[in-house]
Amino acid sequence: MSWNTLDWLDLILRWFHIMAGISWIGGSLYLLWLDRIFADPERAAKGEHGEPWMIDQAGSLLVEKLQLEPDGLAKTHIWFKRETLLTWVSGILLLALVAPLPGSLLTGAGGQPINAVTSTVIVIALLALSWICYDLLWRSSSSQQIALPLTLSLALFVAVAWGLTQIFTGRAVFMLLGAVLGTLMMGNVWFRILPALKEMKEARAENRAADVALCTLARHRATHNSYLIFPTVVLMLTNHYPVIYSHWLNWIIVSLLLAAFVGGRHMVVSGKAGLWALYSALVLVGIAVYLVAAVNPSQQTADAGSVSFATARGIIAKHCLSCHSTVPADRSYGPAPGKISFDRPEDIKRHAKRIKASAVTIKTMPIRPDSGMTKSERELLGRWVDQGARLE
Ligand code: HEC
Repeated sequence: MSWNTLDWLDLILRWFHIMAGISWIGGSLYLLWLDRIFADPERAAKGEHGEPWMIDQAGSLLVEKLQLEPDGLAKTHIWFKRETLLTWVSGILLLALVAPLPGSLLTGAGGQPINAVTSTVIVIALLALSWICYDLLWRSSSSQQIALPLTLSLALFVAVAWGLTQIFTGRAVFMLLGAVLGTLMMGNVWFRILPALKEMKEARAENRAADVALCTLARHRATHNSYLIFPTVVLMLTNHYPVIYSHWLNWIIVSLLLAAFVGGRHMVVSGKAGLWALYSALVLVGIAVYLVAAVNPSQQTADAGSVSFATARGIIAKHCLSCHSTVPADRSYGPAPGKISFDRPEDIKRHAKRIKASAVTIKTMPIRPDSGMTKSERELLGRWVDQGARLE
């Protein structure tokens, strides 16, 4: 299959994934909003039922809350189960589709290739273990005491983020962490919320009380999902920003973003009472922005011994020139792909910044993951650029 066909497939799958996600998330946010309206104490005090009127293309709608036992489960009527599953499945397919691209799931942290089977096993184990640990952790804790499971969950997230950066490139790590959060939300809907809903319906039909423990667990998981939506979307977006995902402290930055966006969700739902969460979120984002802008690892590498142009050119000749030449030895992509050739020293100097970005920072070049370019070759090339890309 040519790259072109894969690009089209990628586009369609991505569109599908985003559309399914919008339907799911849009629905969930709508329910949160409804909940707030129904829970508004000012309206309740005035004796208003807080029934919102809405207008859509079919006419005007009046939404009413049906109070069911146990309290608050009315909203589990619509759980968008198909949207949830479709978002997850299309996400996993997308992950598999982009895996062979350079800098993705078959590229190691140092730029070396990772075997497809090894990578698949790691990803499956990661998703399965994340769900099992999360589920056990929160099932074994009582609903009043959330401080311990919350702290442990955050600590686990940081540990997993760090662990993944030891195996994969930053971009792959961000995609995988997004997939982890998506899997937790999918698991919550399918394994915890839907069974409770089934139980409620059966209990009603049999005219008995529903299993309270099952329903309470489902309600907690619905709340968790509403907290996970915000950070999941931000993770999906940040894997398009190399300055964030390829930063050497990317595992700290991603954890700060997670905590900040969970705080943002708290503020959205709690209104004024949740302002403290908004301020904390702003501080966390501020720290992340500071780290990205100010803590730069290239200053350390720049001092680590000078690299001559001959060395840099040797590496480029070995790993780049086969394609990036006006007369390329590898003819798969035509002459000077991306309008970049490294035939003359001036060309190399002119493109120095882009060489560093593609081959050192985000590791999308050389375009074939099995190029055999080593970590130290990438470091030498990066250091030559950091030291001013001198032609001597
Ligand atoms: C097997 C062929 C091949 C090799 C080897 C290769 N490239 Fe590329 N490169 C491409 C193709 C194809 C494109 C255009 C792809 C695109 O624009 O998305 C490209 C685009 C680029 C670009 C422009 C796009 C960007 O990411 O900024 C840069 C810079 C680049 N390559 C640098 C390098 C460097 C540095 C090396 C060696 C370390 C290298 N390439 C090795 C095929 C190759």
